[in-house]
Amino acid sequence: MLHATEPLAAAYLIHQDYQAYTPEQHAIWAELVAHVLPELEEHAAREYLDGFDVIGLQTHQLPDLASITARLEPRTGWQSTPVSGFLPAAAFFEMLASRHFPTTTWIRSRDSLEYTPEPDIFHDVFGHVPMHAHPIFADFLQHYGRVCASISDALLLEKLGRLFWYTVEFGTIRQNGTLKVYGSGLISSHRECLHVLNGQCAIHNFSLDEVIRTPVKVDELHKLLFAVDSFDQIYEAMHIAEKRVLSCTL
Ligand SMILES: [Fe+2]
Repeated sequence: MLHATEPLAAAYLIHQDYQAYTPEQHAIWAELVAHVLPELEEHAAREYLDGFDVIGLQTHQLPDLASITARLEPRTGWQSTPVSGFLPAAAFFEMLASRHFPTTTWIRSRDSLEYTPEPDIFHDVFGHVPMHAHPIFADFLQHYGRVCASISDALLLEKLGRLFWYTVEFGTIRQNGTLKVYGSGLISSHRECLHVLNGQCAIHNFSLDEVIRTPVKVDELHKLLFAVDSFDQIYEAMHIAEKRVLSCTL
């Protein structure tokens, strides 16, 4: 549970009523997983695939967030915490800063299997949570939340939002000379993932300066994404970003 030190998020916390999911909703989860998993087994970062096993994701039924947290928390201190929906930025950062990942519990309908405008449990858990089992990524994400929670300047937050977008949401990594995906927007969207794997999107080497200069477009497939060589790079980039925030040079 969150405590009094996380007051902004308190109003958004809910209980996941796991027994209330219908067989149809479990079937939608299974269909979504079956649609993307064969590709991910070949093209996802190994840290994502390891995390998938660590947190005990099931391919045929929706995840029980308490069970996920029971496996994840001893590993990296992160919890997958059920929330009612989209959080205001300050509450979102506050949760990340205390290693609670705000996790939606609803699942998309059969009419919108490929795309939902707001994140659902497939995007949040299948897409995001496996990476939280990786210690460096886990530390990076908590640090990101802590720094952003201390900022009120909109331009700075926009720049740091780009860092989140091009790593946590749409990050790629080179492993053994091959491009792999780890960002949740690529992991949970077959279309976005294929677009990148088919070479239809330029991939630049990750650079904090270029990332924070590159605007985010949410209404089209990406023309440019960034690849790291290891997750140490984003961890270090966040520390550089923090120093620049403190010295007003970001
Ligand atoms: Fe996301």
